[in-house]
Order: sequence, then C-alpha cells, then structure tokens
Amino acid sequence: MALGGPNPAAHGAEQGPAEAAVAAEPRRLTILGATGSIGRSTLDLVSRHPEEFAVEALTAHRNVALLIRQARETGARLAAIGDPELYGALRDGLAGTGVEAAAGPDAIVEAAGRPADWVMAGIVGAAGLEPTLRAVQQGTVVALANKESLVCAGDFVQAEVQRCGATLLPVDSEHNAIFQVFDFEQPDRVARIVLTASGGPFLQWSREQMAAATPAEAVAHPNWDMGAKISVDSATLMNKGLEIIEAWHLFPVEKDRIDVVVHPESVVHSMVDYVDGSTLAQMGTPDMRTPIAYTLAWPKRMVAPSARLDLTATGTLTFEAPDLERFPALKLAFGALEAGGAAPAVLNAANEVAVAAFLDGRIAFLEIAAIVEETLSRGPQNPILSIDDVLAVDRTARRIARTLTMR
Ligand SMILES: NC(=O)c1ccc[n+]([C@@H]2O[C@H](COP(=O)([O-])OP(=O)(O)OC[C@H]3O[C@@H](n4cnc5c(N)ncnc54)[C@H](OP(=O)(O)O)[C@@H]3O)[C@@H](O)[C@H]2O)c1
Repeated sequence: MALGGPNPAAHGAEQGPAEAAVAAEPRRLTILGATGSIGRSTLDLVSRHPEEFAVEALTAHRNVALLIRQARETGARLAAIGDPELYGALRDGLAGTGVEAAAGPDAIVEAAGRPADWVMAGIVGAAGLEPTLRAVQQGTVVALANKESLVCAGDFVQAEVQRCGATLLPVDSEHNAIFQVFDFEQPDRVARIVLTASGGPFLQWSREQMAAATPAEAVAHPNWDMGAKISVDSATLMNKGLEIIEAWHLFPVEKDRIDVVVHPESVVHSMVDYVDGSTLAQMGTPDMRTPIAYTLAWPKRMVAPSARLDLTATGTLTFEAPDLERFPALKLAFGALEAGGAAPAVLNAANEVAVAAFLDGRIAFLEIAAIVEETLSRGPQNPILSIDDVLAVDRTARRIARTLTMR
C-alpha cells in the first residue's frame, strides 16, 4: 500500500505561501476543471488574493464561454478546452488577450504538465486521471479533488508522487479533515479513521420512494453545492464508497480501520480515533473554500470567506450508522476495497456510466447501484500491473455498463 501524507522535504516547508506573498514572484497556479464547482471555488479564493497568485493554465471540457471569461479575468497564460470542436470558439474568444488557446484531451494533459507551483486536480471522473498524473510528474504541489483518479489508480498515482517528489494534498472535505488531524509520525497509534457522510437528499426515503427519484431530486443536495455527478453519488452514497477507497490510498491505515458514519449536519468533516481513546475531528461550515484554502496555503493558513461555525446556532449534531440495505452502493464499494485489483476501477467506471444514464433520464435511480453490481460480477478481474491495465479495465467496464443501461 502506498503511504499517504505530504512529503514536506520535497518542497521545502520554508517556502510557504506567506513567504511567497512577500517574494517578488507570485505563486503560479494551474486549475484543471476550472469551470466546475471546485474550479470556481478555487478561482474565487484566488481572486481575493491577487498579489499572491498568478494563473498559469485553466482547463474545461465544453463550457467554452466560462473558460474564456475566466482566462480573461485572471490573465492566464493558457486556456485549454477538452472538446476539440470548440478550439475555434476558444481562440476567437481570446483573440487579442495574449492568452494561448489549446484544445483536445492531449492539450489538457499538456496544460497539467506546464510548470506551476500548485495544481488543482478538479476534473470530474476518470477523465482526470492522466492530467492528474501529469501534474504529479512535474513534482509540484497537487491539490487533489479528483477522487476518481485515486479510486482507479491510487497505487500508481502514489508511486509517481514518491518518484517525482510531488506533494499530494487532499481537497475532499473528509480527507482534508483527516489530513489535518492525522498523526503521520505515528500512524500505528491510529485505531480508526471515520469518514462522515451527510446521507444526501434521500437519507429518510424508502426504497420505494427512491425508485421514482428524479435527477432534479437527486442533485438537490441538502448541504453542499456541487457538480451533478458527485451530487448523484452523494444521493446513492457511492460518493462515500469512492471516498473510503480514496482514504485507503491517502492514509497509512488498514482497510478494516476505515469507517463511515452518517452525520446529516455536515459540521464534523471526519475524525481520527487514536489508541488512547482520543478522537480528533475537524469541523466547519460546509463550504469547499475551506479545504481548498487549506491546500492553497499549506503548510500555513490563509483567510477564506467561508461562514464561521457557530455551534450554538447549529444546536444539535447527530450521528447514525449507514444503512447498507437502502444504500447498496456503499456496500459495493466496501467490497471493491476489500477485493482490490481491478474491482475499484470497475466500480468507478460502471458508476460513471450509470450516473450519466440516470442524469439523461435513461435509467431509474435504483438501477445505478444494480448496474455497478452487475458490472462488478461480469467485469475484468485481472491483477492491475500498470496504468495501461487500469485504462483497459476502465474501457471494458464502461462497455459492459453501457450495455446494461440499454436493457
Ligand atoms: N463540488 C464539490 O463540492 C466537491 C467536493 C469534493 C470533491 N469533489 C470532486 O472534485 C471533482 C470535481 O467535482 P465538481 O463538483 O467540481 O464537478 P463539476 O462541477 O461537474 O466540474 C467538473 C469539471 O471538470 C471538467 N470536465 C468534465 N469532463 C471532463 C473531461 N472529460 N475532460 C476534461 N475536463 C472535464 C468540467 O468542464 P466543463 O464545465 O466544461 O464541463 C469542469 O470544469 C470530482 O472528482 C468530485 O468528486 C467535488
């Protein structure tokens, strides 16, 4: 298992952002997935500290209008759009600005590899794997929101982090919370890590009610404002399933020491239990700008505009065990974590296909987990020895899952 945790020696903790603020050169940032929820929150923080940061590259998939606006506003050196058909629109929209335009999946990977002091890996899905790897390979600080890349290929991502001297900082609020309270000096003193789950919009719904759930109902998350795919994942609890696999790749703990507790208020972002009976938690209001700011300023802290936590106003905090019968996706993810090999990549690929089909109105909500389960039973079970193996498993699992969405 690849060890998680930062490697401060690789980047020199003495070169933190506070020093960068007084240095002549601002820190250069690249934001992969700039037009998404994570990307926009990152740019919001950057815009509040204009002297400290300069934007190297921004990427998007199809939202060319927003990408043009962001590139103009930030004075980015490069804007890259994933859909090659949108190259002309991007080039025309940036004419006269001096911002370089590029298009296609390779252009996104190249953008990720442009020298930068900090890269946000904010693309959604396995599409983020190659750009994330490329960012890691330049040996810089990579803020990782793209959990799917760790789920599919965590061993390879972590091996590249070690080989290239990169620093991987978790953005997911749960992993960011654990990162803040995990004692990397004595990981054997950690008894358990506990990821909190809001439970999503269907926490109180019966299976019968969920059977008729619409995409609009599934993306209406009670606490967090996120992209469509992760919102549906939160409704099925697959998001928590992906996160337990992500946690295993990020933190040096055994698989059976990763737990989930449902906490609908989303105030406690996750916890670490130690052998002496202490439990350390990180808390805050549900605003992704807090964990993003943590990764932007690491190893220092910076001012973020998130609402302050007022526990007297919050009142009661509640916790309950997850219901694996009503939310089978979480059970499937625990199974994939335990099985290892190809299983996590199959789980992830099938889930991406099924969620897209649900959002398109082609399958019902409960079919998402059913399709993932069937793809896991029919999909490849070979050992994963290389990134090419990961990509091949991903392709095969998508093909199987697509067929299942057409039944
Ligand atoms: N949102 C949150 O609060 C949150 C919290 C924790 C973790 N995360 C994780 O962060 C990642 C991003 O989530 P999000 O909610 O920000 O998603 P989102 O709002 O859907 O944004 C996704 C971003 O990725 C781009 N993109 C989509 N498909 C792509 C492709 N094939 N190639 C290149 N770029 C592509 C999108 O471009 P277009 O806009 O042009 O389509 C957009 O910039 C996910 O892995 C998610 O699990 C998100």
